[in-house]
Amino acid sequence: QGLLGEVWNDETSSSMLGNRLKKVVQNYQAMNKYGVEVSGPGGSSSRPKLSGPELLCQMKNKVEVATLTADLAPFSSLPLAAQLPLKQLTSDLGPYRSCAVVSSAGSLRSSGLGKEIDSHDAVLRFNAAPTVGYENDVGSKTTIRLINSQWFNRTDYPIFTQYQRYRRLHPTQPFYILHPRFEWQVWQRIQDNMAEPIQRNPPSSGLLGTVLMMSLCEVVHVYEFLPSRRKTELCHYYQRFYDAACTLGAYHPLLYEKNLVKRMNRGPDRDIFTHGRVTLPGFSRLNC
Ligand code: C5P
Repeated sequence: QGLLGEVWNDETSSSMLGNRLKKVVQNYQAMNKYGVEVSGPGGSSSRPKLSGPELLCQMKNKVEVATLTADLAPFSSLPLAAQLPLKQLTSDLGPYRSCAVVSSAGSLRSSGLGKEIDSHDAVLRFNAAPTVGYENDVGSKTTIRLINSQWFNRTDYPIFTQYQRYRRLHPTQPFYILHPRFEWQVWQRIQDNMAEPIQRNPPSSGLLGTVLMMSLCEVVHVYEFLPSRRKTELCHYYQRFYDAACTLGAYHPLLYEKNLVKRMNRGPDRDIFTHGRVTLPGFSRLNC
């Protein structure tokens, strides 16, 4: 009791990475594949650091969780439009009381968190993360699955063709596409609150899913996004693949996403240490 190992430090910077990963991150920072223009004070260390509640309010007020709908230009004029949902995900789903976001991190192994995860009203999982055979550690309930375009079509590209094909195969399954503006609004929240320039690539699905759930739920519990005492280089709980970049980021500004989540966390550090658990208020519960 009282003895607590290290949990995520919210001032983690790329300078704390090993040499290999540091180089990879620096390359991505320089690349700017999407032509992101850094506006405002991004990357300045002279700005006052916002408090957790201030950050939560920024997230609520400056990010709009939006999905593509059939009537939305410019998508409405594409063949794809016929298959897009008529309404926003946020008007079709929820509100939920208590939610879980299950990162796919290797540290979920032997966590025994399954029962706790399933006790939430809604559970968000990522990509192909399985539950069968892993129930004890990750639970079995899945309400929403957030799939990135790499997973969905295996390359970055014909996402719309793949979307249409999938919709034809599973016409009754609700399937939304996140509005790209949403991703970049979240990106801007990260950059504006970090003291150094972050990778100019979209945030990881982990943070996007967390913000999505904050818009649907009264309280959101995120599991093993901030690593617990089970912290490992094992990339995913369901694969024998080891790479620290999965937890610390390379392409995604994952390191900085974790700094932001640590600052927004309302739960005790002990929850992170033992359960890899972060507790965030839903937007509906914030008075901003
Ligand atoms: O790898 P994948 O994108 O499917 O994982 C889902 C999310 O979980 C990632 O976007 C990342 O935010 C988080 N994650 C993590 N640490 C890992 C693996 C995944 O934080 N080791």
